[in-house]
Amino acid sequence: MPATHVLVLAAGKGTRMISARPKVLHHVAGAPMIDYVLDTAAALGAATRTVVVGHEAGQLRAALAGHAGLRFVLQEPQLGTAHAVRQAEALFAGVTGTLVLLSGDVPLLSADTLGALLAHHEAAGAAATILTAVVNDPSGYGRILRDGDFVLGIVEHRDATDAERGIREINSGIYAFDLEPLFPALAEIASNNAQKEYYLTDLVAIYRRAGRTVSALVVDREEEILGINSRVELAAMSQRVWQARRAALMSAGVTLEDPATTYVDRGVSVGADTVIGPGVSLLGRTSVGARAVIHGGVRIVDSALSDDVTVLDHCLVVGSRLADGVSVGPFAHIRPGSELCAGSRVGNFVEVKKTKLGRGSKANHLAYLGDATIGEKVNIGAGTITCNYDGVSKNRTVIEDGVFIGSDSQLVAPVTIGEGAYVAAGSSITKSVPAGALGIARSKQVNKEGWVRLKKALRGTEKKT
Ligand code: UD1
Ligand code: CA
Repeated sequence: MPATHVLVLAAGKGTRMISARPKVLHHVAGAPMIDYVLDTAAALGAATRTVVVGHEAGQLRAALAGHAGLRFVLQEPQLGTAHAVRQAEALFAGVTGTLVLLSGDVPLLSADTLGALLAHHEAAGAAATILTAVVNDPSGYGRILRDGDFVLGIVEHRDATDAERGIREINSGIYAFDLEPLFPALAEIASNNAQKEYYLTDLVAIYRRAGRTVSALVVDREEEILGINSRVELAAMSQRVWQARRAALMSAGVTLEDPATTYVDRGVSVGADTVIGPGVSLLGRTSVGARAVIHGGVRIVDSALSDDVTVLDHCLVVGSRLADGVSVGPFAHIRPGSELCAGSRVGNFVEVKKTKLGRGSKANHLAYLGDATIGEKVNIGAGTITCNYDGVSKNRTVIEDGVFIGSDSQLVAPVTIGEGAYVAAGSSITKSVPAGALGIARSKQVNKEGWVRLKKALRGTEKKT
């Protein structure tokens, strides 16, 4: 097969989104809709991938900077789909092969369908092959005018006669083009139509007149060519995608207690026999092992959870690693750069940031552990705070194996609590505590005998006067 090149149209304004953001950057089930299109293009193994940008071009280019090898061409102003393709002419000077044209707002198209389109294009020896669909409601779309296997023309809804509007086969806006005759033919397209735009669809009639073959492939799954034009369609598309991911998880042995409220980004993996409660989001680059239990209202972002992990209700876990058998929550906040080692526990109202909590260590209640390295089998009492910030820089706290930190202690960093040491409850520790020692840093208690009785007596005399 000849080399394949992909061109993605994404210059349009997306008027109906009512947005300052380019339409193709709006998220479908957690990712910009154009990412789906670019991933499909990548899966096709195309020789080059180019995006036509226009409306909010700077914003779009910046957002796509992470896609390696992507080329951009600017269409300014946006005068229609044929005009958009023409902007890429210089890039394809002297290049032969097949150009696959995609729309940045059609996210569900699969690489399999594109493969079928290319195969059909080759087999038909066509100059252009159009991906079409037969739909119940064709309104708004360009209609396909056919003569058996050959396409005679495409007529836009606005320009169609009543009889033509009755045609249910529509143009998806996705095509395979032989590169050689493409750009000279595009130059012939005029803008004498309802929208005063240069319609790419006029290419069909031009090719017919030149005796070139224009073919069409009807998609099996018509949802693959659904485009997004409004926020309502955006939400419906997200639901479709989430629905598919939920079904895939359940097929892989994951229990979803309330599937409709489980939100999983693409690429997230979950092991078998894990149970996910209502209102759980697993986002970004997240993986969850087997037999884990994630209770309701939990959000996990860019984190790796191993097997048998429990996350109790209403926790936020970001950019962290939770090893086998770890338990977190309820109401815990695990911030980026944290590592909770096997069997460790973080309880309610505990915030952990850039901290390693060693094997079997516990911080069960109301604590802030930031920039700390905590060894194995350490007990962090309720209300413990690592004072990691002195107003200028962040400092580390080191707590070695087997340490016991009494409740309501402040550990003013930088500070080290040596192996097996104890810190007395209510201490403000400003100096390191040696291994095996007791660190106690609080004012001595004084008991004033009979003080309450004296106070009452004093009040009595006050009232009489
Ligand atoms: C187009 C087709 C129509 C088809 C429909 C499928 C034409 C003339 N019509 O209509 O037959 O049924 O798609 O959805 O091609 N774009 C640019 N620059 C422009 C104009 C558009 O880059 O100047 C991009 C848009 O961002 C979008 C795509 O091209 O990604 C389609 O444009 P749109 O305006 O939505 O075309 P339709 O009128 O829907
Ligand atoms: Ca459209």
